[in-house]
Amino acid sequence: AQAKLTDRFGRTVNYVRLSVTDRCDFRCVYCMAEEMTFLPRQQVLTLEEIARVARTFVSLGTEKIRLTGGEPLVRKDILELVKEIGSFGLRDFAMTTNGSQLPTMAQDLRKAGLKRLNISLDSLDAEKFHRITRTGRLSQVLDGIDAAKEAGFEGIKLNAVVMKGGNDEEVPDLVEFARKKKIDITFIEEMPLGEISDHDRGQVLCTSDEVRDIISQHHELIPTPEDSGGPARYFRMPDSNTRVGFISPHSHNFCSTCNRVRVTVEGRLLLCLGNEHSMDLRHVLRSHPETDDQLREAIIGAMDLKPERHHFSTEGDVQILRFMNMTGG
Ligand code: GTP
Ligand code: 5AD
Ligand code: SF4
Repeated sequence: AQAKLTDRFGRTVNYVRLSVTDRCDFRCVYCMAEEMTFLPRQQVLTLEEIARVARTFVSLGTEKIRLTGGEPLVRKDILELVKEIGSFGLRDFAMTTNGSQLPTMAQDLRKAGLKRLNISLDSLDAEKFHRITRTGRLSQVLDGIDAAKEAGFEGIKLNAVVMKGGNDEEVPDLVEFARKKKIDITFIEEMPLGEISDHDRGQVLCTSDEVRDIISQHHELIPTPEDSGGPARYFRMPDSNTRVGFISPHSHNFCSTCNRVRVTVEGRLLLCLGNEHSMDLRHVLRSHPETDDQLREAIIGAMDLKPERHHFSTEGDVQILRFMNMTGG
């Protein structure tokens, strides 16, 4: 029988999110501080080490891998890793990206076996886009979205983090854009990751229910049956194939069906986005270069550390000090 990873609460873990770099060409206000220091090279897993981790998870029943960052496409030779993981024959193989490198890389990623892309897009107004991302250029990302469409991915999804007074009045435009491009869009409640002082989180939480109300003034939103066990709840509209999703860590907790773990680029296996429970896989990788047996044991053992739930809520939050770029969401 196929090996399986299960935790103390009976949840099966069959989805791994691998962060391949902490670096990014953007500095989104909810993700990074304006001045960030990045990890020194020796602390970062090599692409070979990341591939070993991926392969070992697959031997333990992982069916879905998502590459994240930072921005995964700024990691040198990322295509080599995509090719390697693309050859595993996974049910799903995806990447979350800011889209800036897609104009030149979309085709190659698709050819290398990547199946789906999530692209962040918080604003369609060039100036506001620049204010939110600090260094990003909207036109580049829009070109990236078109390049991704042309490359023929199995699925493309847009992600928008909604901030009150930041981009909430753009929600209807973002929905129209997704409809026009015939792709899905998910609106995300901001999570308190990283100590980010010049962007006041407490004041700006915009709940998914508020976003839904805004959209409902323009389109009827029809609930779709629960599916993936993922964080998003999806709705359809009567006159379009575009789905609208909501990721609501504060208001609609999905922890009871959580199927995922993450590995940071330092090789820390994180059992939950909203907690610090973790296992150092880098140490295991580097002290046992010849076989993956110890790595496999370490991963199986780490499942006992997976906490029951995170504690983000609508009233006051726990603050996780780790920045989002260490985790990739
Ligand atoms: P799927 O892999 O299809 O489930 O996509 P996704 O929407 O989870 O992935 P993506 O990388 O696009 O992440 C979108 C948002 O979901 C980010 O803000 C993530 O932080 C958030 N998210 C992903 N996984 C989790 C989780 O386990 N817990 C919480 N609270 N949020 C998550
Ligand atoms: N809260 C919620 N979502 C976030 N993202 C980055 N930082 C945060 C945060 N603090 C989103 C990005 C991207 C995904 C990986 O996570 O917009 O779509
Ligand atoms: Fe970069 Fe994504 Fe973080 Fe923005 S949210 S700074 S694009 S890693």
